[in-house]
Amino acid sequence: MNTVSGFSKFTKIQKIDFLAENYFNDPNSIRDLIQSFWHSDEKSQMTFDEFSENTITNFFFPYGVVPNLLLNNKSYCVPMVIEESSVVAAAANASNYWAKRGGVRAEILSFEKIGQIHFIYKESRQSLFDFFERVKPEILREVAPLADNMQKRGGGILEMSLKDLSGLEEGLFQIFMTFDTQDAMGANFINSILEMAGRLFKEKSQKEGISIEIIMGILSNYTPKCLVKASLSCKISELEDPKLGMSGLDFAKRFEWAVKISKADVYRATTHNKGIMNGIDSVILATGNDFRAVEACAHAYAARSGRYQGLTEIALTNDTFNYSLEIPLSLGTVGGLTSLHPLAKLSLTMLGNPNAKELMRICAAIGLLQNFSAIRSLVTSGIQKGHMKMHLLNILNHMGATDEERELAKEYFKTRIISFKAVSEFLSSRRILQ
Ligand code: MEV
Repeated sequence: MNTVSGFSKFTKIQKIDFLAENYFNDPNSIRDLIQSFWHSDEKSQMTFDEFSENTITNFFFPYGVVPNLLLNNKSYCVPMVIEESSVVAAAANASNYWAKRGGVRAEILSFEKIGQIHFIYKESRQSLFDFFERVKPEILREVAPLADNMQKRGGGILEMSLKDLSGLEEGLFQIFMTFDTQDAMGANFINSILEMAGRLFKEKSQKEGISIEIIMGILSNYTPKCLVKASLSCKISELEDPKLGMSGLDFAKRFEWAVKISKADVYRATTHNKGIMNGIDSVILATGNDFRAVEACAHAYAARSGRYQGLTEIALTNDTFNYSLEIPLSLGTVGGLTSLHPLAKLSLTMLGNPNAKELMRICAAIGLLQNFSAIRSLVTSGIQKGHMKMHLLNILNHMGATDEERELAKEYFKTRIISFKAVSEFLSSRRILQ
């Protein structure tokens, strides 16, 4: 048994020693491996260590860039952090393709965050609503100091209302609050206000002999009114491309089918949306935002009709190809990791220090381009061709191929099916021959 007590109190070296000695056969090489991923600058390493708990080292991910994103007539070079082969290449490809066709348009449709306080109450519904309306202005006044700074930046609390959920769960009620958190993602701001508002609501109810039990107060990661729309549009004839092996119209129609399938079938919808999130998550990670929050929200939004569906919309009208993505994105460009992580800072600088709304537009644009690229491949050549090209490099790295072998393999596999076995056989045969 490798259980341990007080692990969090160990120093970093003690933690590594414990792991190396208890989980591996060769503790010394494990120690070396772990330490080889430390930052060479001690102060920088400390910053990373302090982001989380029980930190022993860093986990590297590739940081790539997509130049030539033309969005609302402005050019961006977009940072993307992702390990999956082909994602950055696909986004770059689609960016170049659309830059020649007018670029991406994106607009903010709404900009509002949400928090909830859930509580239990089992007496007269009307008295609760009367009481709530009476104490609401007092609560808003008393929590106002917490919103002072946010208000100075143009944000603050927008609305506070009472919802009766007792039809779903006996005795369940909810205080529903909306916020404008400007350029902050706003989790701390919202949660502090909710906890204080919950306490005040409880105190005031006690004074009036009303029996409520607060269960919890927390922001909601579902922000359907923090919405951005990105769109692509061009004449169908402009989609004509000899590489497609079909006419622009045939391509557009096959593309339309792919989108219809994502509306009709949940299995396809999930993969369709996963492709969109390949792009969005990569930018979210590169800018120090919370990809779990954005993922959870995107998928809830995809199911808003009661059925999980693809997030993009297509319309082929008047000889025009119109393709769009509407997605809620709750992002921050100040606070949190955005200023603490040196590479998140670098990403934001590379993007021209966008505010939260601009970052929403950029992410939606990349999500749509990413999806465009995937669908374009899927309905024409299939995606394996591009994917396997990148995969070949991973296999060659894994097999310790030399530079010369890499070049020969790239040439050889241009016209052959790539698999682990085939690459291994290719390398062995060459190595035997030498
Ligand atoms: C792979 O990570 C993403 C795709 O499967 C997306 C899609 O099928 O639309 C290529």
